[in-house]
Amino acid sequence: MKKIGILTGGGDCPGLNAVIRAVVKKSSRFQWDIIGIKNGWKGLINGEMELLTDYSVSGILPKGGTIIGTSRTNPFNKEGDVEKVVDNIKKFNLDAIIAIGGDDTLGVAAKLHKMGIKVVGVPKTIDNDLSATDYTFGFDTAVSIACEAIDRLHTTAESHHRVIVVEIMGRHAGWIATMAGIAGGADEILIPEVPFDMDSICKNLSKRYDRGKKFSIVAVAEGAHPKVSDDESISSSENSNDKVLITQTNEKDAFGHVRLGGIGHWLAKEIERKMNVETRVTVLGHIQRGGSPTAHDRILATRFGVGAVDLIRDNDFGKMVALRGNKIIPVELEEAVAETKTVDMKIYDIAKIFFG
Ligand code: F6P
Repeated sequence: MKKIGILTGGGDCPGLNAVIRAVVKKSSRFQWDIIGIKNGWKGLINGEMELLTDYSVSGILPKGGTIIGTSRTNPFNKEGDVEKVVDNIKKFNLDAIIAIGGDDTLGVAAKLHKMGIKVVGVPKTIDNDLSATDYTFGFDTAVSIACEAIDRLHTTAESHHRVIVVEIMGRHAGWIATMAGIAGGADEILIPEVPFDMDSICKNLSKRYDRGKKFSIVAVAEGAHPKVSDDESISSSENSNDKVLITQTNEKDAFGHVRLGGIGHWLAKEIERKMNVETRVTVLGHIQRGGSPTAHDRILATRFGVGAVDLIRDNDFGKMVALRGNKIIPVELEEAVAETKTVDMKIYDIAKIFFG
């Protein structure tokens, strides 16, 4: 008989509930108790937990968000919080923790593991930017939503003979923009991995006009940025590693991240100014993260949940479940958070064939 804590940290993501359900169902085979830790690491600091039963997870498979809540709390940020985490693990008799999250949440898990805490990780993020796994769940749903948005924007852009810029999430990786852009047939896809050049964008879009296509869709990832020569007119921005990123505020979260957003509006203004063509912007924002997961994400999340329980059964701590090819395998938590997985340039080269 074990008592296992489970938490979801960082931005929510379609498929989190499918993992929780899989963990509860698989654990019930061993008569383990699953304790839902509320709102990520915050719940472990404050001792906010609830027992998750078959009843609690009934009907949650298609539900977006997370039934146990989430937060971007970092216990290593505030003096005394790590001690509270350790004390609460003892106080609530937790034999192990399952941390479901992206690089931030799993980074905390890796540090706690080094301190001797029994923890396993499950990778989640719509951004698909974790290098140790081929895919994270939530990504497929975000791509489907962004693709549908591009389809819808096509008809209105065509009717009004406009350029429509669609700003897509993804932080410092352009995975969602690239895949949704390919699937939706965007005429230009701009990603953080490839600083863009305004002149070549305008040249591409003009080629369409010359062919009689009097509308265009430009998919821009929120972390995309112009080549240095073009970015002089960007204000409200932050400089990091020689690039200029547009951000919503200058504040940073507990993990040091700025809130990206605004490049779509900057770009639309530039296109309108340089090409003299009516341009509009759609920022997809959190719509990409909300709602029901796709069948693909439900299956991946379920496989990850079952895999996490197997790791605990095998006493294989300090690991994260990962998808490699079609297999779920354990990888070191440290490896999982080591680097950001950026867009594969072979895929981006395919996208480029359709620009202009
Ligand atoms: O990491 C997921 C993500 O949705 C990013 O794509 C985006 O930059 C960020 O989270 C937004 O965070 P918040 O929900 O705090 O606005």
